[in-house]
Amino acid sequence: MKPTVAVALTGASGMPYGLRLVETLIRAEARVYLLYSQAAHVVAKQELDIALPPRASDAERMFGERYSAKPGQLRVFGREDWFAPVASGSNPPDAMVICPCTVGTLAAVAAGLSDNLIERAADVTLKEGRKLILVPRETPFSALHLENMLKLARAGAVILPANPGFYHRPKRVVPIFPLNTVLFPGGLLPLRVFEARYMDMTRECLKRNEPFGVCLIHQGSEDGAPAVPEGVGCLAKIQECDMQQQGILNLKTRGGQRFRILDRKTGTQGLISADVGLIESDASVAVPEEFSACARLLQMVVAEKGKSVFAEPHAYDDARSISPCRKLGSVPGFYKSRGLAAAKGPAEN
Ligand SMILES: Cc1cc2nc3c(=O)[nH]c(=O)nc-3n(C[C@H](O)[C@H](O)[C@H](O)COP(=O)(O)O)c2cc1C
Repeated sequence: MKPTVAVALTGASGMPYGLRLVETLIRAEARVYLLYSQAAHVVAKQELDIALPPRASDAERMFGERYSAKPGQLRVFGREDWFAPVASGSNPPDAMVICPCTVGTLAAVAAGLSDNLIERAADVTLKEGRKLILVPRETPFSALHLENMLKLARAGAVILPANPGFYHRPKRVVPIFPLNTVLFPGGLLPLRVFEARYMDMTRECLKRNEPFGVCLIHQGSEDGAPAVPEGVGCLAKIQECDMQQQGILNLKTRGGQRFRILDRKTGTQGLISADVGLIESDASVAVPEEFSACARLLQMVVAEKGKSVFAEPHAYDDARSISPCRKLGSVPGFYKSRGLAAAKGPAEN
């Protein structure tokens, strides 16, 4: 039988950990009871731009859809819902995780206050001998925080600060949209999406509030068989998305950080996903000699047609600003992709 896990989000930094945990548990077919504190609303908005609904039933619907939960698999309870199963020792969850956990909630649980449903559920979990995991977040920890953690550890709780190790060289995995154009940091890229694989990719990115990667095509074409992308690309953050015509998504995206592809694989639908190393953004990238004509051309067009023809910034001495040239068709993409890569990155150091 799949376990029942209570997850409590409190108002500490680290909301992405908490929501990723909920998503992963649902994917693993666990039953999830979700609780969140008042302060969690503020942090969720701040860190993920997510408005946690004040009503539990609305939150249940929102997260159920977001994480494709089965009916009844995800239940959300209000902070004073004393009839919730987690509030009673006769129906405790198999485990409870408070992630992220404020030092305030940590202290309340250590003191056995049970003043709201999170504190009560933690108390019940401990007294019933079930696993209680707290993911505290504060820095530095004071003697009070450490004493509370020690007290809880002695009572059987697991204190598990989110301290990711770097020895396995963590990478970021992004879906790749290979195109016949190059997106530069800060540049605007409108896209029409109609292939199933990229529709799914867009939906996932919107759902997770994550960007996808745009790479110039090295070999192949934009539609049909998966193309081979160049090794360097740029994250594309979706700013607007609408479907005015059935089956066609119109996206407005803006270029974020550059990345270097470290490894890639192609999924069954033909969507490429890549392990990428992000390239630190430089203050500016000098325009290489071979692009200087392009920079001058851009300057002339803006002088003649006005600033509004291309997205800001109009930094003609910065190689990253020459991306509007793609609209003129004057620079082969290959050169632009080299311009994108023309900066120090992790693989070059
Ligand atoms: C953006 C933001 C970040 C915060 N980060 C932390 C944090 O990392 N750790 C912490 O203990 N409190 C943090 N706080 C303060 C708590 O939210 C505050 O103490 C709150 O009363 C905790 O209530 P709760 O434990 O019921 O969620 C943060 C508050 C805000 C607005």
